[in-house]
Amino acid sequence: MKNILVLGSGGREHALGWNLKDYNDGNPEGWSRIHFMPGNGGTAEHPWGKNVAIDPTKAENHLKILEYAICEHIDLVVVGPETPLARGIVNFFQANNFPNIFGPTACAAELESDKFRSYDIMNATRIPQARGFKCYTAEEALRAIDSITALPQAAPGVVIKAKGLAGGKGVRVCTTNEQAQSELEEHVKEFGEQVLISERLQGPEFSIFGLSDGTHVLPLEIAVQDHKRLLDGNNGPNTGGMGAYGPVPFVSRELIENIGREILTPTVQYMNQERCPYVGFIYAGMMMTKQGPKVLEFNCRLGDPETQVLAMLLKTSLYEPIMLALKGKVNEAVIEYNSGAAVCVVLASKGYPSSNITNGLPIFGLETTDSQPGTKVFHAGTKRDKEKILTNGGRVLGVTALSSDLGDSNLNYANAQEAAYKAVNALKIEGGFAYRKDIGSI
Ligand code: AMP
Ligand code: GLY
Repeated sequence: MKNILVLGSGGREHALGWNLKDYNDGNPEGWSRIHFMPGNGGTAEHPWGKNVAIDPTKAENHLKILEYAICEHIDLVVVGPETPLARGIVNFFQANNFPNIFGPTACAAELESDKFRSYDIMNATRIPQARGFKCYTAEEALRAIDSITALPQAAPGVVIKAKGLAGGKGVRVCTTNEQAQSELEEHVKEFGEQVLISERLQGPEFSIFGLSDGTHVLPLEIAVQDHKRLLDGNNGPNTGGMGAYGPVPFVSRELIENIGREILTPTVQYMNQERCPYVGFIYAGMMMTKQGPKVLEFNCRLGDPETQVLAMLLKTSLYEPIMLALKGKVNEAVIEYNSGAAVCVVLASKGYPSSNITNGLPIFGLETTDSQPGTKVFHAGTKRDKEKILTNGGRVLGVTALSSDLGDSNLNYANAQEAAYKAVNALKIEGGFAYRKDIGSI
């Protein structure tokens, strides 16, 4: 049995811990113990899960987290969200002789937290991306909007991106010059003047994940598609993600290998040359354009809700591959996958993605969905109050199903979708959840 500490409190962390617990040291009856910090209302699952009430997003807690890891004989720390990474938690552990923490250092995490840096890295390595301008003032941004809209483009429009981390809310996709000019003002008020202005690409999106050991990247062989818009048919505002499915039918294993070889590996090798080795999960948000796949953004972690889908499709616990990556030997890792398709439907609080939501509502129906075959409900914005589970955030639950667990090993999205929505219909809160009805409709 290993002791694994997962930092974070979302559905991604619940799913990651659920996958990691299957590492059993060769004892088929065994499992590993997962400590979630702080976890949520669903992560302290009997008998393998435990919550620890420390907030890892605060830099002043780094020492407390290290003390916990030492006292509890933690074999591996895995960092879920980007904020602790950008705040240097990995640097802190390494400086204190605790090397078994998986995630990039603050400098390497800039691949996500600094859009100017990732733009420059992609330019230097000739990785296909949208053409853009790094702007330091609103005036420069206005000029850049004019330059971009004057370019001959397949899809007219401009994208405004905050330079720094913005919790998934820092991107505005505008279809006209006028819209961009007017949205820029609001964007600057919220996120500051430094923005990346780029051309608007068009095409279906997908997410690719890999494990990097600093010089090599092992891509996960399953592409996942996130549904970022709030409403059915990809309408409404962008959210953190309202659901996901995988594998993505138009992304072949060969294409994933190419992305690993031509995009992920050159990125980490370039960072290595810059003396900023990148070790951790690497995530490329991709768009399949008419000119081929292009990178929309890099993230320095796994996706949410993509991880919930991946967790169902991974046959192997990621414990060993992660340990090999920490030793610089990720190429030796073997990862096996389940057949079939997985679908994750996010149940959100009404009002999400605005902060105008009501927390503390009791959730009913979890006992029945927990025993439904082929289905797993990952918790995100929930908390436990004695025997009750209450809502505690925008995205509350990720209801996930795997078709092969339902006796169908084909890529039958409809089966996984039906099972996920059957569980969705059994889950209730006062006033109802907000959710999309078309997740996994391929
Ligand atoms: P990002 O956080 O950079 O992945 O952006 C969030 C969402 O904005 C993406 O999932 C896309 O839907 C959209 N987006 C970002 N960059 C572009 C682009 N250059 N062209 C079109 N859409 C984009
Ligand atoms: N699913 C989008 C993200 O994790 O950023």
